Amino acid sequence: MVIDTRVNLGGLEMSTPLATASGTFGYGTEYAGAVDYSCLGAITAKGVRLDPWPGNAMPRHVEVPGGLVNAIGLQGPGIDAFLAHHVDEYERLFPGGPKMIVNIWGGTVEEYAEVASRLEAAGRKSIAAIECNVSCPNVKAGGHTFGHDTAVLGRLVAGVRAATRLPLIVKLAPNVGSIAPFAQTCADNGADAISLINTIPAMAIDIEKRVPVLANKTGGLSGRGIHPAAVKLVYDAHRAVKLPVLAMGGVYEARDAVEFMLAGASAVALGSAIFSDPGVVRKVYDGMLEYCSRHGFSAVSDLTGALAD
Ligand SMILES: Cc1cc2nc3c(=O)[nH]c(=O)nc-3n(C[C@H](O)[C@H](O)[C@H](O)COP(=O)(O)O)c2cc1C
Repeated sequence: MVIDTRVNLGGLEMSTPLATASGTFGYGTEYAGAVDYSCLGAITAKGVRLDPWPGNAMPRHVEVPGGLVNAIGLQGPGIDAFLAHHVDEYERLFPGGPKMIVNIWGGTVEEYAEVASRLEAAGRKSIAAIECNVSCPNVKAGGHTFGHDTAVLGRLVAGVRAATRLPLIVKLAPNVGSIAPFAQTCADNGADAISLINTIPAMAIDIEKRVPVLANKTGGLSGRGIHPAAVKLVYDAHRAVKLPVLAMGGVYEARDAVEFMLAGASAVALGSAIFSDPGVVRKVYDGMLEYCSRHGFSAVSDLTGALAD
């Protein structure tokens, strides 16, 4: 049985339902030769902001049971170097390769909008969509994150929407009481899709030294342990709004990706799993196709929301 692997994520046409999660795949070139890029419909670049940003002090990640706690702090070279070096290198290594979703962040709505408009103006052939990371401190609102207040989120989404015609994916914060009003705010302000979940606030303590393991003291949990929580949030978001969902959080096996699709995702991103096994991309892709054949789905997109309830 030939399975149609194409999916549409809010205007982003993907040749397969698989992407990579921001911050876990560098700028798309670092895994050349290790990952089978033909299984990917998109790669997501590490967070990009206007100016270079140093990130947090070391140590900034630690393995814990069920995953990884990181506080990288969005280190990056700024948009000019991103375009001049990383996008060039990606297009040189992968002409016609997976489309690039650029994850963006900033301290103000204006900064996000500026990055979005410069990405579009650059007119680069690989840059196909923008993913807005709203789990960042809003410097004009005492450091509260954009993603935890629907009014603030609405202004951010509207501001970025006005700055670009590229498909706009909003990456929601998972640690909110109910995801539905945040998803609805994205829909109301012109987003084309939402992605979830970002990491869950977490902490690890060195009990012998009685100090936090990370220099930043706290960080975000990713990996296997967050998967069931992510499935619930994807399910809730899919039921709340018509926007397509890019799901991520603890995908290590094909069954994790299928679970996300059945819960309502239109596409699925792999993150922390790639650190330990770059072969996971091929394994998950093959397993999804095998599942579709076994269950009589001729198109992967038919899995979206196909719960039997
Ligand atoms: C080391 C690391 C860096 C990350 N950097 C970003 C980032 O720059 N922007 C962002 O929106 N999410 C970032 N994330 C979150 C991931 O994109 C993803 O949402 C999360 O890790 C859950 O997926 P996973 O369990 O498959 O890793 C990062 C995650 C990790 C582990």
